[in-house]
Amino acid sequence: MAGHPRIAVYPGSFDPLTNGHVDIIERGARLFDRIVVAVLTNAEKHALFETSERVAMLREAFSGHANVEVDTFGGLLVEYARQRQASVIVRGLRAVSDFEYEMQMALMNRHLSADIETVFMMPAEQYTYVSSRLVKEVVSLGGSVAGLVPPVVEERLRHRSTPSHQRRV
Ligand code: PNS
Repeated sequence: MAGHPRIAVYPGSFDPLTNGHVDIIERGARLFDRIVVAVLTNAEKHALFETSERVAMLREAFSGHANVEVDTFGGLLVEYARQRQASVIVRGLRAVSDFEYEMQMALMNRHLSADIETVFMMPAEQYTYVSSRLVKEVVSLGGSVAGLVPPVVEERLRHRSTPSHQRRV
């Protein structure tokens, strides 16, 4: 609609941000007037990074992008999207294995708020196997995640994590 900026919300845990997320955010930033990257605050017990650290890494990674905003949210995603006047929820789809969970969420969100559309985007092929969970696992075991996460994340992971097999008990 002319005059109405098209705002999208890209929600997630981002624990931590990966290059797969970065790829989706960049695609979203080209497609929408504004993309709000929304970090879930309902802190998971096993989270590696505090919400504030996840937000700081996202802000640093996207400091040069005028239409990328980083925010936090709790509660229902569709309520947050409504507050932000967003008409679209963006989610990335890497593989068929993502599909079932994503379809359930998209349809539940549509049930809750029919006027908010979920848009799925595929990341570049080289990131289809990258997930925050595997990044954490590789780092905790002393492996390299160079090229799979932004440099700011790699740096923080290095400081954060002593490989478990090197840790003194
Ligand atoms: O990166 P993730 O962990 O796959 O993101 C999951 C997220 C944050 C998108 C999802 O947990 C979510 O939307 N949480 C908000 C709670 C909500 O609205 N639930 C009902 C609709 S499914």
